[in-house]
Amino acid sequence: MTVDLAITGGRIVDQGQSREGDLLIADGVIAGVGAPGSAPSDTGEIIDAAGHLVIPGMIDVHVHTREPGWTHKEDITTCSQAAAAGGVTTIFGMPNLRPPTTTVETLREVLDLYAAKSVVDYNHNPAASNPDQIAGMAELGIAAYKIYMVVDTGREYPHPAGTGMHDHGHLLEMFETIAPTGLPFMVHPHDQGIMDLIEQRYWAAGDRSPEAYAKTLAAYDGVIWDTAIGVLLRIAEATECPLHIVHAQTSRSIEMIRQAKERGLRVSAEANHWTLFLGSWDDVTTLGPYALSYWVPDHHKEATWEALVDGTIDMANSDHAPHTREEKEVGWTDMWAAHTGTPGIQYQLPLLVDAVGKGQMSIERMVEVTSNAPARIFGLGQKGSFVPGVDADVTVIDPDLEWTITDEDVLSRIGWTPYAGRTIRGKVIRTLIRGRDVYRDGTVVGAPGFGKQARPTTRPENGV
Ligand code: NCD
Ligand code: ZN
Repeated sequence: MTVDLAITGGRIVDQGQSREGDLLIADGVIAGVGAPGSAPSDTGEIIDAAGHLVIPGMIDVHVHTREPGWTHKEDITTCSQAAAAGGVTTIFGMPNLRPPTTTVETLREVLDLYAAKSVVDYNHNPAASNPDQIAGMAELGIAAYKIYMVVDTGREYPHPAGTGMHDHGHLLEMFETIAPTGLPFMVHPHDQGIMDLIEQRYWAAGDRSPEAYAKTLAAYDGVIWDTAIGVLLRIAEATECPLHIVHAQTSRSIEMIRQAKERGLRVSAEANHWTLFLGSWDDVTTLGPYALSYWVPDHHKEATWEALVDGTIDMANSDHAPHTREEKEVGWTDMWAAHTGTPGIQYQLPLLVDAVGKGQMSIERMVEVTSNAPARIFGLGQKGSFVPGVDADVTVIDPDLEWTITDEDVLSRIGWTPYAGRTIRGKVIRTLIRGRDVYRDGTVVGAPGFGKQARPTTRPENGV
């Protein structure tokens, strides 16, 4: 076997192990991991990674690319460039697009757009709202379905008609229909009835501020999240459909997920960057609409970190949600009119490396939650590890480099990040997909159209 590329002398982290060594790559796949100095003398190219971390590229299964339909915010190329710069090698896009991805036909169109425009490997999570579209969607090689239990009040985005479902009967029917595909059903948990009641009280008092919005979402210590997750777990159990819970962030719902896993339910959960790194009350009062997404008090964030470390929460995803400054600015006076969500695909991995440096989790666990687990849970046996034969998707990180995040560095079309001004330790130096550079020394070098669809190749091991 001829080794085309060796990444030498770095600390290689994968599947709970970490050691100094050489990562060997041939024909775009992992050829092996050897001791330092083991790269054959006729190796085509050597990347010296001494002092650096060498990890499987991040797999981010929750990404809002905004294309088609909302390309004034972002498109597949700008989103995937930001991904490459952030050490993310595979993205799964979300269906809240124009048109929303609710049919086999719209799914086919979106997949064609990625094929033409994505720098990184990809898949797409269509909305499961039409039972007769489910089987045909699976045939196009998707890895999961998505639905929101949210209906927006006071704005047309980011939860447009066709992507939301909060009637429990409809939900149960969708779980029943998805179960035979074996694919996980990703659900955004939300209790719309309770949200409606609480928000109307703030509105009646004339308060539409970011603080009121945050407190609505945190009402009764997280009841909007907890009731929804209780319902989802029970329906998943009834239908034996694998469930993936997005936006895990409250202590009681984490406890429910923990117990469900102990009972053998096929359930997985994710934590998002804004819960982990942007969730203080200070962030809400100083950044206002730019920090919201969602908010829960600090003790829930502690529970989220603990669950991410102990395995109750399986993975970290960005929920990268770019919106323009104009769409955010209205939120200072009416947060219900602002588009909610925060961008983060470019910075989540460096922020996690910084958290590792501060002792919040081990580097081995970080690799599990950013790469090993999403590959296993969504059936991407060809990705997310350094097992020989797996795609050589590799991120090289300097864990000691201290740097300050700025708006100027943002590759997302929107040109801002809520993390501007933060100084962190840990920077992505190089990102490779299938053995080829896509990001190197501060520049995206991968071309639009290089990315390929990451279809499931193994049985999804959600909760198994
Ligand atoms: C997301 C978006 O902007 O598309 N927004 C958000 O508040 N995180 C949608 C979503 O994931 O709810
Ligand atoms: Zn969501």
